[in-house]
Amino acid sequence: MAAAHPMQPHATHDETAEQLFVRDLKVWLTEEVEPVHRAAAAALDPGAQNNARVETVYAGLHAQSGFRAWASVRRTSQEMLWDAVGASVARQSAALAETAALPAPRGSVTLAPDFVVPRYLADRDVHLMPGGYGLDDGGVGQGAVMDQGGAVYMLGRNGGQMNDVRGHTVAAHIFARYPGFEPARILELGCGVGASAVPVAQAFPDAELHAVDVGASMLRYAHARAEHLGVAIHFAQDDAEHTRFADGSFDLVYSCVLMHETSEAAMANILAESLRLLRPGGVAVHLEVPQRYEELDLWGKIRGQIEMDYNNEPAWKAAISVDFDAMLRAAGFAEVAAGFQDATSQPQRGGGGFCGESKGVFRSWFVVSGTRP
Ligand SMILES: C[S@@+](CC[C@H](N)C(=O)[O-])C[C@H]1O[C@@H](n2cnc3c(N)ncnc32)[C@H](O)[C@@H]1O
Repeated sequence: MAAAHPMQPHATHDETAEQLFVRDLKVWLTEEVEPVHRAAAAALDPGAQNNARVETVYAGLHAQSGFRAWASVRRTSQEMLWDAVGASVARQSAALAETAALPAPRGSVTLAPDFVVPRYLADRDVHLMPGGYGLDDGGVGQGAVMDQGGAVYMLGRNGGQMNDVRGHTVAAHIFARYPGFEPARILELGCGVGASAVPVAQAFPDAELHAVDVGASMLRYAHARAEHLGVAIHFAQDDAEHTRFADGSFDLVYSCVLMHETSEAAMANILAESLRLLRPGGVAVHLEVPQRYEELDLWGKIRGQIEMDYNNEPAWKAAISVDFDAMLRAAGFAEVAAGFQDATSQPQRGGGGFCGESKGVFRSWFVVSGTRP
C-alpha cells in the first residue's frame, strides 16, 4: 500500500501480514462473535430491553465463560495491535528520525519541559497504547505508533491512512452553521498527531493554526507529518484545561474526540478555557463520538461499559451522558447548538449536513458549537 505521507511508518511484507491479521481478528470478534453475546444479553433481560437493568445484565454476562473469553480476546487483540505496530516502528526509528529532521519548517513545535500530564491520562494507557499519549521517547516513535495504530484501529473507516474524517467534519460543520466565517487564528485542543488539524488548516488556508496536546513524541511527529503534507501548523505541549495562550487569542477553538479521554470536571474546564481563548464573536466547536447514552439500547450501553473496562476508556460514559448544550451555555457561550454532523472525507464548503439525528457510528459525529458573546 502506498504511504499517505513520508512520516507514515513503512510496514514490511511480514509486518503488513501481522497488522492485517490483527485487523481481521478484530473484525471477526465484532461481526461474528459479538452478536452471540448481544443475544445472550437480551436473553438475560427478556421482554422490555429494560435499560435500568444494564448492571445486572452485565454481571450476568460475566457469569458466562464465553462472554469472559470474548471480552478478554478483544482486549488481547488490542494489545496485539500495539505490539505489531510498535515493533514495526521500532525497527525503523532511525529512518523516521531522519525524515522528521526538517531543514526549513513553516510551522513549529514547542515543548514544555515542566509539563505535567493530567492524572486521567497519566494513570492509565488509554486504548492500551503502551506508555500512553504522554510518553516522551525523545523522538517521534510514540507519534508514529499512534498514527499507524489509529489507522488500523479505525479499520479504514475514518479516512483510511489519513484518519482525517473528523477534521473534515469540523470544517463542514463550520461551513454549515457559520457561512462566511473566515477565522484568522485557530486552535485545536487535544490534537494528537494532527490528523484532524491538517484538514482544518487546508479548509482555512489563510488562517494561522495552533494545536496543543500533552505528549512530546506525538507533537514532534505531528509537526513533521504536517510539514511533509505541506501544511504549516504551530504545535505546543499544553494542557487543554489551562493553556498558556492569552485571553481572546483565537477566532475558532475546536476539539475532536478529546472530551471522552478526560473527566467530567476536565470537560467543564475545557469549555471554560475555550471561552477564555476566544475573542468576542469567536466560535467554539467540539466534536465527539456520535452516541448519546440515554438513546442507546441495552447492548449499546453494555458495549460502552466494555470499552471502559477492557479498553481503558473510563470517561466514555460521562462524555456521552453530559448535556453539552447546557454546559456550553453555563460556560457563557451564546447561540449554542448540539446535534450530529454528517461525517465527510472531503473538504466541503457547501453547508448542510447538521441535524438532530445520528446516522450511526462513522456516518455522523456529535458536534456542539457556540459563540462567545
Ligand atoms: C482520541 S485522541 C484525538 C486526537 C485528535 N484530536 C484527532 O482527532 O485525531 C485525544 C487526544 O486528546 C489529548 N488530550 C487529552 N486530554 C488532554 C488535555 N488535558 N490537554 C491536551 N490534550 C489532551 C490526548 O493526549 C489525545 O492525543
